[in-house]
Amino acid sequence: MSEATATKSRGTEPRRFVKVIEILDKYERNPSKLVPILQEVQEEYRYLPEEVMTFVATSLGLPPSRVYGVATFYSHFALAPKGKYLFRLCDGTACHVRGSTALLDTLRKRLGLSENKATTDDMLFTVETVSCLGACGLAPVVVLNDEVHGLMTSDKVLALVEGVMQQEQM
Ligand code: FES
Repeated sequence: MSEATATKSRGTEPRRFVKVIEILDKYERNPSKLVPILQEVQEEYRYLPEEVMTFVATSLGLPPSRVYGVATFYSHFALAPKGKYLFRLCDGTACHVRGSTALLDTLRKRLGLSENKATTDDMLFTVETVSCLGACGLAPVVVLNDEVHGLMTSDKVLALVEGVMQQEQM
């Protein structure tokens, strides 16, 4: 590594981990707080980058395999980056009966996504399915980031996409 590169990496790495260090300090680097630590790290990055998980493991004195094991065990942890706008479509029983599959098909078709490709190349949208969100009376339910949208139709879900696209063009 050249001196210039070394200097650059010394300069950027601490910045990259500043927020993680704050979170670790908040939990007093207590290994028994691994799950809440990972939750806050994920809120920061929107997923758990591998190098950050390694950093957390080292900081807590845990083997990296233990941190990866926890991250893969809980479905709400994401190991791959997600789009800025996350659509979560409920596929619980009530939503399924009331047409969630058609909503999913509509959304994936509009965004060029599939079962094997959940995030758009521009990292703007991710589409996921989730189990019952506890709002069955509003089925079918779609959550866009933290906003819950009930009684959804294909037209309404497309309108949400268009709204985001317009907002992003502003
Ligand atoms: S099944 Fe969708 S909110 Fe319960």
